[in-house]
Amino acid sequence: MGTQVGILGTGSALPERVLTNADLEKIVDTTDEWIVSRTGIRERRITDANTASSDLAAAAAKKALEDAGIAAEEIGLIIVATVTPDYMFPATACLVQEKLGIKHTAGFDLSAGCSGFLYGMSTAAAMIQSGVAKYALVIGVETLSKITDYTDRNTCVLFGDGAGAVVLGPVPAGRGFVGFDLGIDGSGGELLMQAAGGSRNPATQESVLSGQHVIRMNGKEVFKFAVRVMNSATEEVLHKIGLTKEDIDFLVPHQANIRIIDYARERLGLPEDKVVVNLDRYGNMSSASIPVALDEAKRAGKFNEGDLLLMVGFGAGLTWGAAAVRW
Ligand code: UT7
Repeated sequence: MGTQVGILGTGSALPERVLTNADLEKIVDTTDEWIVSRTGIRERRITDANTASSDLAAAAAKKALEDAGIAAEEIGLIIVATVTPDYMFPATACLVQEKLGIKHTAGFDLSAGCSGFLYGMSTAAAMIQSGVAKYALVIGVETLSKITDYTDRNTCVLFGDGAGAVVLGPVPAGRGFVGFDLGIDGSGGELLMQAAGGSRNPATQESVLSGQHVIRMNGKEVFKFAVRVMNSATEEVLHKIGLTKEDIDFLVPHQANIRIIDYARERLGLPEDKVVVNLDRYGNMSSASIPVALDEAKRAGKFNEGDLLLMVGFGAGLTWGAAAVRW
């Protein structure tokens, strides 16, 4: 497999403004009781009008660089996983490169819904192994509040803003990534989408007035899909690397709904303290959920050298992914 690649540092950035369930009770027909019992979410962070994804992404990346002890100029690849880029183009990666003052680097954005960060890590690891770069920044960032309809109780209680980043680079043998499982299924594309603003339905006065630039989701169908692929992706990656669920030390799942996480945890036979959960405080931050959870757990001293971490997620596309890493 060539160079062994692993996670050298982590960082995250969350907007200061907190939107609680009590705040949402005032703007849509919902209750704290419904939101907590159906999703596990209590509050989420929301950006102000002047903050965009690249701002949070750069802040998270700076912390990851500090944590890794790698200077910005050593980065040779920046991958930003997001469905809420600052612009359709240029890529958010270019804005982050400029903000961090990195001189010689490759970079691009990657759109794989809530699985984007897992796709980003897999891509960056392969590009490091093929010699494109020695060190890479992989960032999952979302400002979902900017495309959320705060009159739609089916979606507005779920989503939040934030960014998480990792620095990837060479690690000693026996450490780092041991396997990935990635998949897509476009037949479910319409279950979760932003319908206008692209080439199918360009932005028009009418598209804006009819609310086509916001997230629309069939929650029930996405829920069924999520439960299924959390299980199959986990099994698939374990099978690929010749390990079993008993070998998992920590599960770092996508943070969409505590009921989805609990299904996965029960099937894997893991106790609660082996599963990293932060959705009560941040809601669903799409591609930022896993890296923020990873960063918080790492900084809390949860992981020990040699632990097997399994990160698993699913999202719009539909997409899914799982990554196994030896800490
Ligand atoms: O990152 C990937 C993206 N998304 C997901 O992973 C989401 C996956 N899906 C889910 O997490 C769940 O399906 C939801 C949390 C979105 C919804 O939970 P549910 O248990 O599937 O509820 P439901 O959609 O079946 O709705 C049940 C009832 C409905 O009322 P009726 O039709 O039974 O009278 C909804 O209108 O709950 C109602 N409802 C609400 N009530 C109060 C929906 N949203 C709310 C709300 N407050 N915020």
